[in-house]
Amino acid sequence: MRLAERMSRLGTETAFDCLRRAKALECSMDVVHLEIGEPDFDTPKHIREAAKEAIDQGYTHYGPSAGLPELREAIAQYAGKLRGVHFTPEQVVVTPGGKPVMAFAIMALVEPGDEVVYPNPGFPIYESMIEYMGGTPVPIQLRESHNFRLHAEELASMVNPRTKMIIINSPQNPTGGVLTSEDLRLIADTAARHNVWVLADEIYSETIYDAKFESISRFPDITQRLIILDGFSKTYAMTGWRIGYGIMPPQMAEWMARLQTNMNSCTATFTQRACLAALRGPRDEVNAMVGEFKKRRDFIVDGLNKLPGFRCQKPAGAFYAFPNIESTGLDCEVLAHRSLEEQGVACLAGTCFGKYGNGFLRFSYANSVENIGRALDKLGQLLKRA
Ligand SMILES: Cc1ncc(COP(=O)(O)O)c(C=O)c1O
Repeated sequence: MRLAERMSRLGTETAFDCLRRAKALECSMDVVHLEIGEPDFDTPKHIREAAKEAIDQGYTHYGPSAGLPELREAIAQYAGKLRGVHFTPEQVVVTPGGKPVMAFAIMALVEPGDEVVYPNPGFPIYESMIEYMGGTPVPIQLRESHNFRLHAEELASMVNPRTKMIIINSPQNPTGGVLTSEDLRLIADTAARHNVWVLADEIYSETIYDAKFESISRFPDITQRLIILDGFSKTYAMTGWRIGYGIMPPQMAEWMARLQTNMNSCTATFTQRACLAALRGPRDEVNAMVGEFKKRRDFIVDGLNKLPGFRCQKPAGAFYAFPNIESTGLDCEVLAHRSLEEQGVACLAGTCFGKYGNGFLRFSYANSVENIGRALDKLGQLLKRA
């Protein structure tokens, strides 16, 4: 098959390959899933009910590309309040998952030769889409010694006239790192000084424990070049519903809606109605999920730190633990592979998130304490043999 040249530059998200392999292994062994980044909870009942009702009410047709006006309005209000800023509905584009915002932002802005600075280790789709669009990926290392926050001064030294965009992600996948208000101010200063766009991936905005969520949108100097990515997947346990949103300058929102018209016309309308219920409804289940994640975080971090050769920081957000495993003397890819094939513990090598992830493993703790405990025991057994 002769594909377009650009296909050779398309990366992937290895978590899905690992999930497939782990599911296949389930026929022959007990597998604990700590690979995929999705809450194990059910979507709250009032949201499910709203979707069923919406289907019965006839929300089964195409809708406007940018999203239903009532949902765009509700998102503008909700997301603005969360961040302490004012957004208008014209700034909001509703998309099937948060991921398309990433792809659309890069498609709309990045040309061959443009540089994009992005976190590494980081969500692998940033690098994939930058390369696919012919841009030049410029990874900025997130270091364990700096709580996996990027060094704002290092970022400033990497931005130059070729830089088109800076991508940030806080709370972060895969490290759980959270940028401070001061970090964000320095990043915003750099972006403003160089007229660079910022794509702020805030999909874990409400999965945060000890720190307060801070958004770069607080800094007005960059609002004309800021795209925020957020959504419902993580906060409301709605990964399979495929709905998220971007918030950006109104003119950019029009272009993003046009990309959407070209790619998928619109986001499912009954799903959008369900999200109205999510934003307007009770928050007790969301709060309970975050409380449960916090317990699991403490449990897994303690357990990982007891494994020989493992060293794990306590992440302040998201639902991933990212231990340094260099002292085991094992390669992280070999360890991730053996952990699944020999012990049935599915986790990811740090290198799935870029070259600076080498020497680490990522565990998603979106699983019960009981299953996490079993996984830790199994890992202990493997390390005794290894
Ligand atoms: C950092 C980050 N951004 C975006 C996404 C995509 O979210 P969605 O499932 O809503 O497309 C994910 C999903 O894992 C993520 O970890």
